[in-house]
Amino acid sequence: MLLNDVSARRVVFVGGKGGVGKTSIASSLALARARQGARVLVVSTDPAHNLGHLWELAVGDDVTALWSASEAGHPDGRTRGGSADEPDDARAAGSNPDAGPRAGLVDGVEIDPARTVDEHLRAVRGTMQRLLPERLHRAAREHLESARDAPGTHESAVLERVAETLETGLDRYDLVVFDTAPSGHTLHLLAMPDRMTGWTETLLTNRDRSERYAVAYGALGGTKDTSDRDAELRRVLLKRRARFALMRDAITDPERTGFVLVTVAEPMPIAESRDVAAQLDALGVGLLGVVANRLSPADLLSARREREDEQLASLDLGAPITRVELIGLPALRRLADALAAG
Ligand SMILES: Nc1ncnc2c1ncn2[C@@H]1O[C@H](COP(=O)(O)OP(=O)(O)OP(=O)(O)O)[C@@H](O)[C@H]1O
Ligand SMILES: [Mg+2]
Repeated sequence: MLLNDVSARRVVFVGGKGGVGKTSIASSLALARARQGARVLVVSTDPAHNLGHLWELAVGDDVTALWSASEAGHPDGRTRGGSADEPDDARAAGSNPDAGPRAGLVDGVEIDPARTVDEHLRAVRGTMQRLLPERLHRAAREHLESARDAPGTHESAVLERVAETLETGLDRYDLVVFDTAPSGHTLHLLAMPDRMTGWTETLLTNRDRSERYAVAYGALGGTKDTSDRDAELRRVLLKRRARFALMRDAITDPERTGFVLVTVAEPMPIAESRDVAAQLDALGVGLLGVVANRLSPADLLSARREREDEQLASLDLGAPITRVELIGLPALRRLADALAAG
């Protein structure tokens, strides 16, 4: 059963083509785990977020409480918003699976790359103004503004936040579920830590060299300013490197992490699912299972369902397929039931 495989993991990526049901499956997997007592964080990395829509709550770049089993007065244990930024003792206990009986919960966050880019640029601007002579400030500001829209800036910002959220998520939650952007984009993201680590390495090697020059210069009686600055930069880069290394290790460890591929049983999405599975394999990311979502109800649309089953029969990815029929509202609870029933 998919839920059992998910229960054994700390990190789950939910991916698939646009509109197939990624957010619904990510949320219902989170809910199903929370009902078992797990503390779960759902992270939306798709710039076109709809996590908040689904839960009928305002979710943003700060962690927001979506559901809690212990909340009194709500038959389904639901809370109405509230920031969960600062972990309390009970939440901190979530990182320790032996901490005794705990009430399950679901928190959510929608990663906002624009905010990350803004914060980053503001910090860099501050540093530049401190380090550069005044006459160069304007040119530096213009340079930074052009970086805001440069290709790759937003992707790097998303990746930075994914790595950051993964780090804190692994610390504070039993399970982190990533509700990702449509497939191509997600794989690109998963492939990037390697490239980012490579990039950080290059910078570090250069820094090592300049630090050596600076030390030599200092020994000759020069100012130590440059080497202090370089040491500071080096610390920042090392922290980044450690964070990306942690992310790469977590993502490619099949014991901890798995990918859930959501699809609908139509020729195009099925063909694309095969490609995605091959790419996951190449990246070393484990495919936990496939969810065939929005299947026609066998009793009402039997001919259509037969065609869909034929499509699914041709999809042999070596991972179990969970079948979910088209359901009405309230979608979340029933999806969670369907997943729990395998
Ligand atoms: N099994 C289902 N039965 C009926 N409706 C469903 C089912 N699964 C998802 N839906 C509906 O389909 C729509 C798309 O689902 P969802 O938002 O989860 O897809 P998505 O893959 O996250 O989309 P996007 O790529 O735009 O992020 C939503 O309106 C959702 O309520
Ligand atoms: Mg979605």
